[in-house]
Amino acid sequence: MKNLLWKPFRMGQMELRNRIAMAPITAQYASKEGRVTKRQKDHYEARARGGAGLLIVEATYIHPQGQAFVNQLNISSEELVSGLSELVQVIHQHGAKAAIQLHHGGRMARSDLTGMELVAPSPLPKPNGEVPRELTVDEIVGLVALFAQAAGRAKRAGFDGVEIHGAHSYLVDQFLSPATNKRQDAYGGDVRGRARFLVEIIKAIRGEVGDGYPVWVRMNGKEYGVEGGATLEDAQQIARMAEEAGVDAIHVSAYGPKTPTNLTSPRFVPAIIEDLAEGIKKVVTVPVIAVGRITPEAGERLVAEGKADLIAIGKALLADPELPNKVSAGKLEDITPCIVCMGCRDDLFRGGVPGIRCQVNAALGREEECQIVPAAQPRRVLVVGGGPGGMEAARVAALRGHSVTLWEREARLGGQLVQAAIPPHKDRIEALIRYLQTQLKKLGVKVELAKEATPSMIEEFGPEALVLATGARPLVPEIPGLHRARMAQAGEVLEGKVDVGPRVAVIGGELVGCETAEFLADKGKRVTVMRRGQEMASSVGPSLRAFFLERLEKKGVTLLTGVKYEEATPEGLVITTGDGERKTIAANAIVLAAGSVSDRKLYDEVKDKVPEVHLVGDCVEPRKIGDAIAEGYRAGLEI
Ligand SMILES: Cc1cc2nc3c(=O)[nH]c(=O)nc-3n(C[C@H](O)[C@H](O)[C@H](O)COP(=O)(O)OP(=O)(O)OC[C@H]3O[C@@H](n4cnc5c(N)ncnc54)[C@H](O)[C@@H]3O)c2cc1C
Ligand SMILES: Cc1cc2nc3c(=O)[nH]c(=O)nc-3n(C[C@H](O)[C@H](O)[C@H](O)COP(=O)(O)O)c2cc1C
Repeated sequence: MKNLLWKPFRMGQMELRNRIAMAPITAQYASKEGRVTKRQKDHYEARARGGAGLLIVEATYIHPQGQAFVNQLNISSEELVSGLSELVQVIHQHGAKAAIQLHHGGRMARSDLTGMELVAPSPLPKPNGEVPRELTVDEIVGLVALFAQAAGRAKRAGFDGVEIHGAHSYLVDQFLSPATNKRQDAYGGDVRGRARFLVEIIKAIRGEVGDGYPVWVRMNGKEYGVEGGATLEDAQQIARMAEEAGVDAIHVSAYGPKTPTNLTSPRFVPAIIEDLAEGIKKVVTVPVIAVGRITPEAGERLVAEGKADLIAIGKALLADPELPNKVSAGKLEDITPCIVCMGCRDDLFRGGVPGIRCQVNAALGREEECQIVPAAQPRRVLVVGGGPGGMEAARVAALRGHSVTLWEREARLGGQLVQAAIPPHKDRIEALIRYLQTQLKKLGVKVELAKEATPSMIEEFGPEALVLATGARPLVPEIPGLHRARMAQAGEVLEGKVDVGPRVAVIGGELVGCETAEFLADKGKRVTVMRRGQEMASSVGPSLRAFFLERLEKKGVTLLTGVKYEEATPEGLVITTGDGERKTIAANAIVLAAGSVSDRKLYDEVKDKVPEVHLVGDCVEPRKIGDAIAEGYRAGLEI
């Protein structure tokens, strides 16, 4: 690396220690009223300490009517300034600069939260069918003033700059996009008319904060899959107008239900957003910030090739706040890898206690309680099971100074992750296995492979604390004839241990069944996936599910729901369909993805024989990687 990323960079009057910015990430750690909380300060402090040059604090509503998320941050009144100022201080304390993203949801606001009507440039329904009211010109002028007042508050709170949220189909973007702005007046029509709202906001903010104070806009470089949406050419014109109006930079994102890499950047599409940053960079003289699954290596290249001046990193900084420090120290192998599972984004739309979580970083949003402090008394710890739960427990316990031994039955570490990494678009999970494995090695954990723990072996070892992370084993459903049929577990099929022939019937339509079907379809097999329930892949989060099902359909996989399994025969699987029709799904093999059961036999046998036992991950109940890692982390802290 030429280390361009580590060179200080100037934006307006703001001097950054490097060219890495934390992308704005709505974390839902604010209070219900949108006030700064301790949790939020800890979250940003960890990322400032981690070495990023600039933190762009998340979308913050400039008026209650624009609130789009539960527990979203609020900058709509003067009394909020002191809390925001505390947030700035914790960021500054670690040498990072702090900006804040000024946001109004427009038609994407949540009237159920705000109790106020939705407003937008045009009365077009939002995806849930709710129709906003068209803003009057007086109201638009009022909103321009609200943005400026919010910027003034940001400056008074000590922020080093403000970013106008002009992307992702929120209010400003609703004006910019021809798909959502159908106005016939001066705020609609051609690109100049549609950009007028943004231009007026920039000028009003400039008037409020004065020359030199960094102000920039985040905008879409393009809209994908939006009928009549904005093109890169539109975006180039808008960027030029924004520059003329006085911004200090352009932050280039993208948007659309079919966005290859928009605010969600799903795992399975290439991060082509770099082309958009380059496209904007060609037409402006102010710095360009690029975003979208940019690794530090890619960022270095983007800067070297002149395609961007700064890079923004989002999810990867949730997974590891220390990423910049680790890159600068050349310790790439120590970076906890984001597996792009999109769980953090799905959390924005989940009910229950608000706040995003990270599957690979248990400390996200729990920085205080998850601090790793040396153990008062180093102890002899035995971990049984080398899946993510066991490896994480061993890592954290070893970091705290315990003497840790890990036994794994198989000849390799990873547990179910080894299989989870095989289906299409799941290869980031390999990086997670590699990372955990490397950490155990570096921390001196004594890993013993091909060693199956028995109660007597554990007793003989005599651990002062025992972590059982023995995972789960796949279920075999009760279907007449199944044991005589040619059948295999999905995991075995993924690992290439079984030849299933050209036609395959998959039992179980959750994640594992559907992924295995895709894997087999890619190998040219004719696959039918069946489930008893009414919805395929129902536990797959909203960020990925529609893409996932669409891919299966495109690849010719037959999906059947509401199925009753009657009998396995040499010809295939006899079922009764949801419509009550009895038929045979012809198949050379039946692949099982019918869930799994926890393996707690060992626990029952040893729980009274060792002084302290911690149960972790799927052996408590089959769930997800994030549960195993969170519980492993907690066990490592508690020992
Ligand atoms: C194909 C597939 C895809 C998946 N995809 C996802 C996904 O996309 N996202 C997600 O969140 N989750 C996914 N999962 C589930 C996820 O992998 C598990 O939830 C997670 O691995 C559980 O971790 P764990 O450490 O508790 O247990 P495991 O990963 O099951 O590890 C347990 C380990 O203990 C070892 N062991 C058991 N008994 C003994 C013993 N007596 N002595 C020594 N060792 C022993 C086992 O060999 C195993 O290596 C997937 C699972 C599969 C099979
Ligand atoms: C949980 C979550 C919250 C986000 N919140 C915001 C936000 O408040 N404002 C915004 O402009 N983009 C938001 N984004 C988009 C990110 O800023 C970023 O553009 C995106 O995650 C792609 O970058 P990455 O691949 O480095 O994560 C959010 C993304 C996620 C996953």
